[in-house]
Amino acid sequence: MALAERVVLLGAPGSGKGTQAERLAQRCGYEVISTGVRLRKEVESGSPLGKQVAAVMASGKLVADELMIALVKSVLNELNAGQRFILDGFPRTIAQATALHGVLAELRSPLDRVIYLEVPEEELVRRLVARGRQDDDEAVVRERLRVFAEATSPLVAWYEERSLLRRVFGLGPVAEVTGRIVQALEL
Ligand code: AP5
Repeated sequence: MALAERVVLLGAPGSGKGTQAERLAQRCGYEVISTGVRLRKEVESGSPLGKQVAAVMASGKLVADELMIALVKSVLNELNAGQRFILDGFPRTIAQATALHGVLAELRSPLDRVIYLEVPEEELVRRLVARGRQDDDEAVVRERLRVFAEATSPLVAWYEERSLLRRVFGLGPVAEVTGRIVQALEL
């Protein structure tokens, strides 16, 4: 069975996007493009971009669309033709989704699947507070969830209208969730 080649992993903070993206990379050969991981590296290295975004990230709000779109555009332009990829944490707004659509149309490689990882809110909070990353303080977690509901959740309908969306239940053992995602990636 053929698998989707160009994939977006959509889900609230703590839904398991990063965990699952890495497992899918190992299992199916995807290149993972994680905007959160890239931004945290910029912050750690103290680069100009890192300095620009550190406070916004620590507050749980979103980094400006223009910065994120430029970042992802340059990564996509550098991928080898035909490389499978998973976007983790991008797009997060309708503006980002529209820009992504345009970039991929120019590259003649449109998205072929969007996976929406669904996890109940109380479990999201439990996972994140237990992890304890710098932005996992309970008040910041609540803000990240609010921002997700306001800015990112409209993407569910946006991708549903384009017949790209598959919903995957994200509760349960990590390996079981991976199995459900792989099924949802079958074309
Ligand atoms: P980002 O790093 O993308 O954070 P996030 O979306 O809040 O996601 P998390 O990493 O917290 O969760 P996840 O869904 O990846 O779950 P994970 O696998 O880690 O973004 C951080 C910040 O960067 C944003 O707030 C924003 O400021 C900025 N940013 C990034 N992209 C941006 C963009 N496009 N536009 C604007 N700003 C942007 O798992 C979470 C925990 O749960 C882990 O401890 C894991 O071990 C555990 N877990 C995973 N799966 C399971 C399971 N099945 N059962 C039990 N525990 C599990």
